[in-house]
Amino acid sequence: MAIIIKSEKEIAVMRRAGRVVADILKLLAAEIKAGMTTRQLDDIAVRELARYGAASSFKGYRGYPASLCVSINEEIVHGIPGDRVIREGDIVSLDFGAIVDGGHGDAAITVGAGKITPQAERLIETTRGALEASIAAARAGARLSDISHAIQTYAESRGFVVVREYTGHGIGRDMHEDPLIPNFGPPGCGPVLQKGMALAIEPMVNIGGWRTRVKEDNWTVVTEDGSLSAHFEKTIAITNGKAEVLTPWDE
Ligand code: MF3
Ligand code: CO
Repeated sequence: MAIIIKSEKEIAVMRRAGRVVADILKLLAAEIKAGMTTRQLDDIAVRELARYGAASSFKGYRGYPASLCVSINEEIVHGIPGDRVIREGDIVSLDFGAIVDGGHGDAAITVGAGKITPQAERLIETTRGALEASIAAARAGARLSDISHAIQTYAESRGFVVVREYTGHGIGRDMHEDPLIPNFGPPGCGPVLQKGMALAIEPMVNIGGWRTRVKEDNWTVVTEDGSLSAHFEKTIAITNGKAEVLTPWDE
């Protein structure tokens, strides 16, 4: 499969999907409190999707049973909401996707529940910074691996490591399209970025080693060494020479 170049019209649809994703993620972040279950967050996501008239990108995807991924502490991605209670000091990654008129938006944020350690705070800020650095690198005329390289150098310069076994991805009519976007690599390789490309960039950064393991539920990805992990994601499109953020959860 090749990278699909989107028309202005298709980007406009994705902009609407991305806005829904961003608004709901913001709401979910504000709702996180110690003592609540992760299922309560999924319930809110389901309610809000209905309110916006949007569909979930995740529910039923390869049999995934929920509309939200909630990954806590050493969990990296794909945590299934359930009975687990969020505790003070946890770091909580929320990954969420929505479909509006056939166009997908996909985004993730990591937030602390109450007071978290300075190291956890630094991990979160670094992962977020790595995403921002990679978005700045996603300009028309640059190469795909410039995005990957920006993430890796930003995270490693702060003493953390990037997850190597999961990647970002193209996005559009499908949640996952070509190309894969690794969170590491040399600069200057791969396809030239051009107007009409839509990408979900998603650094996953660990305090310890980069190796991962999947839990017995066959979904939840954790760090092999049990160290903390953070995850941020935005859907972007190359529009006027640079990346336009379609899921502006920080605006
Ligand atoms: N947002 C995830 C991604 O970027 C997808 C979650 S997996 C699912 O690939 F099964 F929950 F959809
Ligand atoms: Co994604």
